[in-house]
Amino acid sequence: TLLLDKANMNVLSEKSLSNKTLLLRFGVTNSHLHTIHPLAFHAAPQLKSIKLTDNDLSTLPAQVFSPLSVIEEIYLDGNQLEIIGPDMFEGLDGLLILDLSRNKIRDLPPDMFDGLSNLFLLNLGRNNIKKLSPTIFHTLTKLQLLRMYYNELEVLEPGIFDRLKSLNVLSLHHNQIKSLPPRVFWSLENLTDLTLSSNQLKGVPHKSFYNMTKLKKLTIYSNPLLSLPDELMGHMPYMTQFYLYDTNLITVPRNLFANMSGLLELNLHLNDKLRYLPPDLFCCLPNLKKLSLRNNSLQDLPPNLFSTLATMKILLLNDNKLKTLPENIFQDLTSLVTIDLKNNDLNTLPGDIFLSNTALKAVTLSENPWNCDCAIREIVRWI
Ligand SMILES: *[C@@H]1O[C@H](CO)[C@@H](O)[C@H](O)[C@H]1NC(C)=O
Ligand SMILES: *[C@@H]1O[C@H](CO)[C@@H](O)[C@H](O)[C@H]1NC(C)=O
Ligand SMILES: *[C@@H]1O[C@H](CO)[C@@H](O)[C@H](O)[C@H]1NC(C)=O
Ligand SMILES: *[C@@H]1O[C@H](CO)[C@@H](O)[C@H](O)[C@H]1NC(C)=O
Ligand SMILES: *[C@@H]1O[C@H](CO)[C@@H](O)[C@H](O)[C@H]1NC(C)=O
Repeated sequence: TLLLDKANMNVLSEKSLSNKTLLLRFGVTNSHLHTIHPLAFHAAPQLKSIKLTDNDLSTLPAQVFSPLSVIEEIYLDGNQLEIIGPDMFEGLDGLLILDLSRNKIRDLPPDMFDGLSNLFLLNLGRNNIKKLSPTIFHTLTKLQLLRMYYNELEVLEPGIFDRLKSLNVLSLHHNQIKSLPPRVFWSLENLTDLTLSSNQLKGVPHKSFYNMTKLKKLTIYSNPLLSLPDELMGHMPYMTQFYLYDTNLITVPRNLFANMSGLLELNLHLNDKLRYLPPDLFCCLPNLKKLSLRNNSLQDLPPNLFSTLATMKILLLNDNKLKTLPENIFQDLTSLVTIDLKNNDLNTLPGDIFLSNTALKAVTLSENPWNCDCAIREIVRWI
């Protein structure tokens, strides 16, 4: 192994690797490397790993890696690469890891990854990629991690992920994606993480997240969502946390969470247009411990909204526009420890509203326009 860090080595010459016939892992990092000789790797065809992270490379000679018939890892992250030639990785069929993140890549040739049938990790994050060919990933049947975050993707082509049967992690957050083709994720049966947050989605097609029963993490927050379809989430029993915030949603479909039966924490908050919640929205969350509905624009709540949440400990309703609360709304929350009602429009509360919440330790009621007449006596006595 030879790793040179901060070596101030600008050029990798034809001779740099001569006579290093035992070298398996070679790296030059943080070294202002800007030029690689076209024959630099001819002297060391036995290399298994090359790490050229954080240098000044803006181009690579055509087929510079082609002598490396047993190479497994190539790290080119943190350079200035804009264009990558179509043959750059041709024939490197033992490659497992390819990291091209943090460059300035705008376009990828459609057949650039052809033949990389053993690739396990492909990182294209933090580039300027706007468009991908629909078949670009089609030979990557062993890929487990595909990172495309922080690019400028506007569309996803139908079928683009169809052959990625082994994929576990697909990161698409921080792009400009405006719409999703129907069923684009359907073949990703092994997916555990899918991130779509911080895009430009105003809607999501019907049944988009079906066929992903191994999913543990799904992010769609920070999209200008206007509405969501009635059937969106398939069975996803391993999902334990879900966040939905920073959207333009006014309401959500009644069965949005019905298939997320393993949820422990649900954060449906910070949606400043969210006004209505359907009555049985939380019907099927038998394990929920924390529910945050804070900083929405809720004005009233359906009476049975929380009636199935017997294990819930924390309920945040603060910073809404609640004017009144139904008398029995909290009666089934027998495990509730904390409730926050701060900064609403409440002027009174029924005297026995917290009567069955025997585990309660903290109630926050400040910043409400309480009306201190006789009607409030009962709740004052309870306090
Ligand atoms: C490589 O080794 C040979 C034989 O020992 C020697 O003649 C040659 O100068 C070496 N090349 C470099 C670049 O060190
Ligand atoms: C899916 O994941 C399981 C283990 O989590 C693995 O055994 C199986 O081979 C994977 N399927 C594919 C097509 O990679
Ligand atoms: C996905 O789910 C649908 C509906 O449940 C089913 O018809 C389809 O065969 C599943 N599998 C794939 C790979 O699309
Ligand atoms: C829950 O998932 C199952 C199986 O994927 C599906 O048939 C059903 O329609 C889903 N329910 C909702 C409300 O999307
Ligand atoms: C939540 O709402 C309150 C009142 O409108 C506001 O002061 C607070 O900054 C909000 N919190 C966040 C994180 O936006």
